[in-house]
Amino acid sequence: MNYVKACALSELEEDTPKRVELDGTPVSIVRAEGEVFAINDICSHANVSLSEGEVEDCMIECWLHGSAFDLRTGKPSGLPATRPVPVYPVKIEGDDVFVSLTQES
Ligand code: FES
Repeated sequence: MNYVKACALSELEEDTPKRVELDGTPVSIVRAEGEVFAINDICSHANVSLSEGEVEDCMIECWLHGSAFDLRTGKPSGLPATRPVPVYPVKIEGDDVFVSLTQES
């Protein structure tokens, strides 16, 4: 898997998404429940940035219509979104957060 550096671990605040662009792909990096997750930053319902939404209980909520996506699987909890958002493997090395876009999990 090809990992690219996304940000520093120390930049991340719990439950506060950070939007980054990795190889032209917008990704939201989220520290939640002691882990770091990477989820595509675009809602599967419309072209809205998920990183502008709220995070709670390992879910990121789309601010426009309220579908929440599981940070572990990308699956929506309910309508109006019906399709999952891609999530990506994360690796931490020291204070560096790496994300692999090549294999969606
Ligand atoms: S744009 Fe995200 S739920 Fe509609």
